[in-house]
Amino acid sequence: MESYPAVTATRNYDRLVGLYDLLASLWSGGAIRAARLWCARQTRSRSRVLVVGPGTGEDAAICCARGAQVQLVDVSEKMLEAAVLRCKSSGGTEPVAIHDDFREVQFSQPLDDILSPFFLNIFSAQELPQLLGHMRDSISSGGRILISDFSPPLRFIATSTLMELWHGIPMAFFFLFTGNAWHRVHDLPHALEEAGLTIIQRKRFRIFGIGPRWIEALIVEIKSDR
Ligand SMILES: C[S@@+](CC[C@H](N)C(=O)[O-])C[C@H]1O[C@@H](n2cnc3c(N)ncnc32)[C@H](O)[C@@H]1O
Repeated sequence: MESYPAVTATRNYDRLVGLYDLLASLWSGGAIRAARLWCARQTRSRSRVLVVGPGTGEDAAICCARGAQVQLVDVSEKMLEAAVLRCKSSGGTEPVAIHDDFREVQFSQPLDDILSPFFLNIFSAQELPQLLGHMRDSISSGGRILISDFSPPLRFIATSTLMELWHGIPMAFFFLFTGNAWHRVHDLPHALEEAGLTIIQRKRFRIFGIGPRWIEALIVEIKSDR
């Protein structure tokens, strides 16, 4: 049997620390930021929150400011440092920083919430079941996973092609520069269903505020019949 993770961790995110937020905001017209901040605002005080791949950590800082016990996991040392600094300047709780590949980390206590901000899109569709399984196994029975990511593929060929192009240009950059997987737009609702998770809330965000709703936030729980 193939051992997991079969794919090596990403590289070069350290070099994007001063640029990543700007690139995301130029590309999505603020939709990426709006989706991940919306998720962060759904977390509760004193809950155990994990942020996977926090990047520079603006959403993680909101969780700290709201009084959550926050853990951050990132393979990039520089992203992790930036996220920790941002959390500390929020004036709230102090985060615990874990410099590691999320796929290798086991948590000593079940988590209440996992925030997954534009993290799943790093990986191939084939790897989603293991990733979602690891998230599912790391939360408590009433725990939630709060995902901000790209909306699922569209039904109509013209709009779906446009969306694939819009998604594909930054993906080509990240594929070459950081080693992200090359893939089509993920069908996250389907992957979540397959992983025994159920969507309890969904919010879509328009790119540039007036464009198509190609970014979305999902709040997910473990299916009750499992
Ligand atoms: C696409 S960026 C998203 C950053 C931020 N969450 C946002 O939405 O703006 C991906 C982040 O995940 C981190 N990362 C990539 N692969 C990882 C892995 N296997 N485990 C943990 N962090 C990882 C990167 O270093 C980077 O900070």
